[in-house]
Amino acid sequence: MDIFINTMQSKYKIYLDCIALKNLNEFIASKKEYKNIIVITDSNVDHFIDNSFNLKNYKLYKYVIEAGEKSKNIETYYKIIRYLTSIKADRHDLIIALGGGVVGDLAGFVASTYMRGIDYIQIPTSLLAMVDSSIGSKTAINTEDGKNLIGSFYNPRAVFIDFTYLKTLPQKEFLNGLSETIKASIIKDRKLFELIIESDLNNEEIIKKIVKRSIEIKREIVERDLKETKERQLLNFGHTIGHALEKLSDYTLP
Ligand code: GLY
Repeated sequence: MDIFINTMQSKYKIYLDCIALKNLNEFIASKKEYKNIIVITDSNVDHFIDNSFNLKNYKLYKYVIEAGEKSKNIETYYKIIRYLTSIKADRHDLIIALGGGVVGDLAGFVASTYMRGIDYIQIPTSLLAMVDSSIGSKTAINTEDGKNLIGSFYNPRAVFIDFTYLKTLPQKEFLNGLSETIKASIIKDRKLFELIIESDLNNEEIIKKIVKRSIEIKREIVERDLKETKERQLLNFGHTIGHALEKLSDYTLP
């Protein structure tokens, strides 16, 4: 069920319907190239790093940001960079972004700029991050003038999608992510749209199907136009007005 993303920069795998921490252990063990692991996460989900995360040969560091869009700024970015320097992180280390879109975008941007780029992995924990923000290599932080005004295109080494994380997701956040699947369906796949509006969305198997298809739609577009010169703009359908409303509501509106 896994999906590969093949861009001009590199090829990486999206492990779909996996047990994230188990797969992560295996991934790290198979690479044998990392010294330390730095997990960047937020105050809502940092408890997901538990005893099953079994890093025998590595030192594990954890940086927890305050949950919410307001953390996706240059101050938090700089604090993380200073933290990395304080623990002497370097290109032999691996950053794990564990969280929703804010953590993924911010940690990805840290990874893409710290020492001109170190490896990172995405473990999205929200539906929105699973179907949109963790896929497609965009990293970013916001400024006072708007969302994602500073950022880069930087491929993760892998993405681990573990549906058990969705079980603890508040309904509001679930709907927030569902809107991205509706977007994907409207821009590319009528059948997916029908599946979303006609199905029982409490059915886990249906959600898995919707997530998989939404990722495939995004994968196809990103492989053709990673840097959004043309076709990828379709993926911003609804985002332009959405970002404006989000900012005007002082990020209280998801
Ligand atoms: N979220 C829009 C994109 O990834 O291009």
